[in-house]
Amino acid sequence: MLIDTHCHVQFHSYKNDMDEVIKRTLEKSVFMITVGTQSDTSRTGLEIAERYDGVWATIGLHPYHLHEQEFGDENETIHTRTEKFNPELFKKLAQHPKCVAIGEFGLDYFHMPPNVSRDEVIREQKETVRAQFDLASEMNLPVIIHCRDAYEDQLAIVEEYVRDGKLARRGVVHCFVGTQEIADRFFELGFYISFTGILTFPPRKKEIGEDGLSSLQRIAKNLPLERLLVETDAPYLTPVPHRGERNEPWMVEFVAEKIAGLKQIEVEEVSRVTTENAKKLFNI
Ligand code: NI
Repeated sequence: MLIDTHCHVQFHSYKNDMDEVIKRTLEKSVFMITVGTQSDTSRTGLEIAERYDGVWATIGLHPYHLHEQEFGDENETIHTRTEKFNPELFKKLAQHPKCVAIGEFGLDYFHMPPNVSRDEVIREQKETVRAQFDLASEMNLPVIIHCRDAYEDQLAIVEEYVRDGKLARRGVVHCFVGTQEIADRFFELGFYISFTGILTFPPRKKEIGEDGLSSLQRIAKNLPLERLLVETDAPYLTPVPHRGERNEPWMVEFVAEKIAGLKQIEVEEVSRVTTENAKKLFNI
């Protein structure tokens, strides 16, 4: 049994076969948490979770949606619509019995929208992170943090909230691509780290070590299993050996297998421990 702690089955990529994808995943004994990225995908995620045992949802406003921009990968082009965080609306969604976290949200200095100053983007991102940390603290829910090229700034805000006795349920840093030092600092603050299919990607030449691993694989090998979660981030980041196809939540098994291989332990142990971790964090 596994829990894909981060997917987006409510996204456009699944508009023709979402129910089949969910059933296919549940039949493989994989549960899933479908993650909201703005108000409408938060609402639809909750509606899907209502209909299935083994599916939960989260609500949040992703930094991509603070400004209009367009980018994508081989599976889906994202054209974002602008939204400002509405605390009343998200508070209402957070009260849904199947809402298990606030997220995903965070700081992303990698995707900078054109035509807006970098300072202005960062200011708005930080303000929106604080608003959602406040909501998570008030609702006593954990957070799912999305962070890219901004770990230091992200850690500074987390440290401040934890120091003030907030974020009691803590949370997870999703799709982790940072360093060992960054991971350790999040652990010290009581957070979990989550890996996607990126972990299965062959190391690029410039980052391959003497052990044949990428730096991320080496970090995953060294981190304690008791603090790790697994996820797909489907429809994005399809793991090996399904590169080029649309990602689906059941493919989280390849992430678990990769961790087992790196740590030279049984995949059953990775499944058991990461599932316990997810159940504990999200109270499911
Ligand atoms: Ni995501």
